[in-house]
Amino acid sequence: MRRKIVAGNWKMNGSTGLVEHLVGYVRSEVSCLDNGVEAVIIPPALYVRDVKSLAGDELSVGVQNVACWESGAYTGEVSAAMAKDCGCRYALVGHSERRQLFGETDAAVADKVAQLMSQGLNAIVCVGETLAEREAGQAEETVSAQVRKALAGVSGAEWQYVVVAYEPVWAIGTGKTATAGDAQAMHQAIRQVLKDLGAPADTMSLLYGGSVKADNAAALFAEPDIDGGLIGGASLVAQDFMSICQAMPAGTGR
Ligand code: PGA
Repeated sequence: MRRKIVAGNWKMNGSTGLVEHLVGYVRSEVSCLDNGVEAVIIPPALYVRDVKSLAGDELSVGVQNVACWESGAYTGEVSAAMAKDCGCRYALVGHSERRQLFGETDAAVADKVAQLMSQGLNAIVCVGETLAEREAGQAEETVSAQVRKALAGVSGAEWQYVVVAYEPVWAIGTGKTATAGDAQAMHQAIRQVLKDLGAPADTMSLLYGGSVKADNAAALFAEPDIDGGLIGGASLVAQDFMSICQAMPAGTGR
């Protein structure tokens, strides 16, 4: 059965004050939901333990990035083992900001996935095309290649730890969202690529990200291949994040 996930990527935003304000509120509100959604808070790494200490069993916690390596002389990096040690269940890899601003390659994304698999941590693997690629009719080709390269080394039981987030680059932080239909079409294509890789694709969760808000979440989550969302800006406002969690339809998975 697919997990229904709403994950809040705080990016380089937040403070101890936001942690105290938001986490307690979301925790108590999520415990009242009966739609089976798993809410995940992904703060900057420095705040992971603070979030974890307030999250209880109701919320999951993640990091925004992990190193390609297990441990050692890599100043400034955080390892998958450290994320696990500090109580994380999830880690983002391959976010478009990491790819564009920090030169993260498909090969590096694959190495990070391997580190996460070795720890039994869930990788939320982010993929998405630029506006130029979409306008050139290359969106599906681009995204499929990213999925294949990121997950080439995954096998067997490791697939249970893989979540794919489709985030068109032109929709991130811009207020432009893919239509529910376009997002669904890409999710369907991603599920097919996963099948081709030998993954149990029908049981895997695929998230949509890119300007998801309270007022467009329900339409996106109603699509058959969209199992949740990766939320940036709206995850910093407690009520907005909760409204998105509430937009998940009830039911027993797909
Ligand atoms: P956004 O960001 O919701 O602010 O568009 C999404 C993301 O980058 O994960």
